[in-house]
Amino acid sequence: MAARSNRLRISAVSSAGDPLFRRAFTLYSAAFPPGERIGREYFRNLFEESRLGLLAPFNFHFLVAHEGERVLGFISGTYLAIANLGFVGYLAVRPSAAGRQVGSRLRHRLIQSVKRDAIAAGHSGLRGMMGEVEHGNPWLERMRRRGALALDLDYFQPSTDGTAVVPLVLYFQPASERRVRSLSASALRQVLYAIYRRLYRIRFPLKQPEFRRMLRQIQGRSRVGGRPLTCPAKPRAARAKKIAKGILRVE
Ligand SMILES: CC(C)(COP(=O)(O)OP(=O)(O)OC[C@H]1O[C@@H](n2cnc3c(N)ncnc32)[C@H](O)[C@@H]1OP(=O)(O)O)[C@@H](O)C(=O)NCCC(=O)NCCS
Repeated sequence: MAARSNRLRISAVSSAGDPLFRRAFTLYSAAFPPGERIGREYFRNLFEESRLGLLAPFNFHFLVAHEGERVLGFISGTYLAIANLGFVGYLAVRPSAAGRQVGSRLRHRLIQSVKRDAIAAGHSGLRGMMGEVEHGNPWLERMRRRGALALDLDYFQPSTDGTAVVPLVLYFQPASERRVRSLSASALRQVLYAIYRRLYRIRFPLKQPEFRRMLRQIQGRSRVGGRPLTCPAKPRAARAKKIAKGILRVE
């Protein structure tokens, strides 16, 4: 529940009825375009499934950064038990709080949470973090210098409103200092399935042309490594490169 002090705190939210969630949801609606947003019902279900222990050994986290009742940002993420990875779902920080390391702190807390999930699932540690970022995102370039991989795959985020899929970069950031140069193709296939099936709640991923296209790219490869980032940065609000569902064009 919300702390009443004005110190910046990060609180885990576990109910759609929590006022912190309601305020974070307003920020979410402002920060992401309709084709990338999922309705309140989605979060309500996840909280309920989590409460009933139905997600285990997967897990879902929703963390809110706030000063008293004022929400500055939030992050959502999932523990993908199938590959022992954390996955960043949504992250947004109120523009007035930019530059205060709120995003960084939220991400750090999410990593701590999924590390606990990894231990609870019987692993000695978390394998790493994954997430989707825009082509040309400067943060990903920084992450690559710190050992993250921009996976060599034309990745498509499914549309959340049924209109268009979104071409993004799928990254992998190892949890340990050890440099990782690639992921096994079979692990990546399972991760892609888990992203579509568990995160986006797509009933039949194999029926989605964009999902099949990703599998075809992996077919015949034993490992998938990183690739250079070449596209120029584009702010999220200006992103226009959506592709109508079923008509796959990748420049
Ligand atoms: C991206 C955003 C959250 C950055 O917030 P901020 O508080 O101004 O940024 P910070 O100064 O804390 O630094 C950025 C931190 O956010 C995180 N971050 C930034 N972009 C990210 C991305 N695309 N995916 C995951 N984490 C990201 C990182 O943890 C980074 O810190 P690090 O370099 O120490 O790892 C903010 O600009 C925003 O809300 N943008 C609109 C929504 C959006 O594009 N979200 C990202 C993809 S879901």
